Amino acid sequence: LPSMLPGQFAELKVEGSETTFLRRPISINYVDEEKNEVWFLIHEVGDGTRKLGAMAPGDTLSVVMPLGNGFTMPASPDEKVLLVGGGVGTAPLLYMGKKMADMGCRPSFLLGGRSAGDLMQLDMFAELGDVYLTTEDGSAGERGFVTQHSLWGEGQRFDRIATCGPKPMMVAVARCAQERGIDCEASLENMMACGLGACLCCVENTVEGNLCVCKEGPVFNTKKLLWQI
Ligand code: FES
Repeated sequence: LPSMLPGQFAELKVEGSETTFLRRPISINYVDEEKNEVWFLIHEVGDGTRKLGAMAPGDTLSVVMPLGNGFTMPASPDEKVLLVGGGVGTAPLLYMGKKMADMGCRPSFLLGGRSAGDLMQLDMFAELGDVYLTTEDGSAGERGFVTQHSLWGEGQRFDRIATCGPKPMMVAVARCAQERGIDCEASLENMMACGLGACLCCVENTVEGNLCVCKEGPVFNTKKLLWQI
């Protein structure tokens, strides 16, 4: 496997799908270097992702990876980093947590979903750091959104925040970070096609003009984004 940074993604080719001609961008969920494995967490939302989800062991898949940039890694092992994920957006945070643990950091994970069933890989997260949960229906962790979790009010100090998930959640997380003067990076999930900076269908308007999320991102410091924070 090539070496991969947490936050980078892959483009997976969907074979045998009548409606999917393009590759699907899927974030790198985990890399097991010993077993030479890369993991993808697939949320089956359409024909393409359903085909991917239906693959069986032994099937082959055309993958272009790694693409894009990654999250900024802590500068030292004692940096306190909060990783905030929503739904399937928690996927790249697992690999981020692993890379942090490899360098002696213990991250905090704040993971949210609509209900307990949306929260995945919790055992693995718990092995890497401290896990805080929210669900909208209260079936796991605290009831509400990630930004309503009590940890924000507990005076815990974080040096850096990284987030991935639905855009409204990331905007709210960026606001929490800004209010506290904490540096925040978000991994954007704009629509993508080529994944290589050629088709321009993924552009995001930033303080530096329109940037391709697939090439200049998907990870951006939220200060660069023209979000209404
Ligand atoms: Fe084509 Fe980004 S997906 S330019």
